[in-house]
Amino acid sequence: MGCPRARLHHDEPHPDPYAVYARMRADHGPVIPVELEPGVHGWMVTDYTTLITWCRDTIAFGHDARLWKDFREGRVPPDSALLPMMAPRTNALFTDGAEHTRYRKAITDAFHPVGVEQLTRITEQHANGLIDTFCEKGAADALNEYARALPLLVMNDLFGFDEEQGNRFVSAMRDLWSGVDVEKADAESERVLSEVLSAKHRQPADDVTTRLIQHRSALSDEEVIMQLLLAVGTANEPVAHLIGTGVRALLEDPSVNGVPTRAYLSEVIDQVLWRDPPITNYPVIYPRVDVSLEGGGVIEAGSPVLLAFAAANRFYLEENAEQLLDTANRAHVAWGVGDHRCPVRDEATTIAAIALRTLFSRLPDLRGAVPNDRMRWRLTTLFWVPVDLPVYFTPTPPPNRPLAAAEGTPCPPSDSSRETSTPKRPGSGNRGRSSLSSFLARWTRGS
Ligand code: HEM
Repeated sequence: MGCPRARLHHDEPHPDPYAVYARMRADHGPVIPVELEPGVHGWMVTDYTTLITWCRDTIAFGHDARLWKDFREGRVPPDSALLPMMAPRTNALFTDGAEHTRYRKAITDAFHPVGVEQLTRITEQHANGLIDTFCEKGAADALNEYARALPLLVMNDLFGFDEEQGNRFVSAMRDLWSGVDVEKADAESERVLSEVLSAKHRQPADDVTTRLIQHRSALSDEEVIMQLLLAVGTANEPVAHLIGTGVRALLEDPSVNGVPTRAYLSEVIDQVLWRDPPITNYPVIYPRVDVSLEGGGVIEAGSPVLLAFAAANRFYLEENAEQLLDTANRAHVAWGVGDHRCPVRDEATTIAAIALRTLFSRLPDLRGAVPNDRMRWRLTTLFWVPVDLPVYFTPTPPPNRPLAAAEGTPCPPSDSSRETSTPKRPGSGNRGRSSLSSFLARWTRGS
């Protein structure tokens, strides 16, 4: 047995998070007692079957953060960096039962009218605009200059943020996910959203925010802000990491020659969701009653249990390699499990597929500057994310096509098998390059 509780946060970047997690499992077994922060304790479930069983058992476990006993009883410091991601909030992810259903329905009703064509057009436009900013350089950081910036730009459009609101929100989200000045970042993100809300009350528009305000479940302004914060906040980083890991997977694959077909991209995305899911140790569930563990030990009612989707997928895959070999199955837990399973799976997959297709179409000889085993990962308590993704390619001038000509047929969501063809020559959006450059400068500041 190793130390009594595993520490999840690492100060220095690490080359292989799975090795860290394999060590923890060897020391503690698949349900690991963890230190979330000094003096703040919890558990982490890394076993695929146990994770699924617990997520589906809504009688014994809840997502409602009001169940968190140490928080309720004042044992979590008010300045804890965990609070923005774990303290109770009136949103879909942190509630159960009828309350959860009401919020989830409002989000899905507000999001789903977006449609694959609009999503494709917006994603292609921003993807091309971003590539235009670095395609002449011959080198780029495909994570920070592309994968991370793209979903934010797409979400800004879908949610109806103006440029200034978008920039401020982007900075706040980046700080929140990387654990920098989280209290300040949390306050700033709420401030921006409440400004967006006032603007939409004055001038409703065809966007997700207006649809949330007008939803028949009559959410209060505070509830709308909480759903926005959840949706936009949970959207960006996971989509970014799905794109980043997709880029790595394609670069590693010797059979990829030129632009990958849509059918192949869909396959690659499924493999990435199995092997390297973008959301690693989050969200959190809380047992309503004490839970006895197989190897001895008890998880007390109200203890936070981190859902280690990445470790659960990867170790299950390794332990069942033979049965799973050659099966293109989607039984991974990357989207979560049960009532809280990500409601925006198809849209997220579409954005990632278009991002990959556009990048490899525009820069067909893209190659990694650092081998996979020399990648650096930032390991925090709730997430682990790569630090960067340097790539090289032949410098190419941006094609000079007006924005209105952005084209392309919709990319199918992951569950579709309609599409097999290679896309046509990509379009490029030149509008707003300078504002895009300033957005990127802010975005990559300090990263
Ligand atoms: C690759 C990208 C994404 C991944 C891997 C992902 C994954 C997840 C996971 C693991 C959960 C928690 C499920 C659970 O507790 O069992 C979740 C919930 C959620 N996701 Fe996503 N997500 C992604 C993109 C998005 C996007 C783009 C949006 C919205 C714009 C979004 C909105 C939500 C919402 C609202 C919830 C809470 C649902 C509920 O509690 O009922 N996600 N997602």
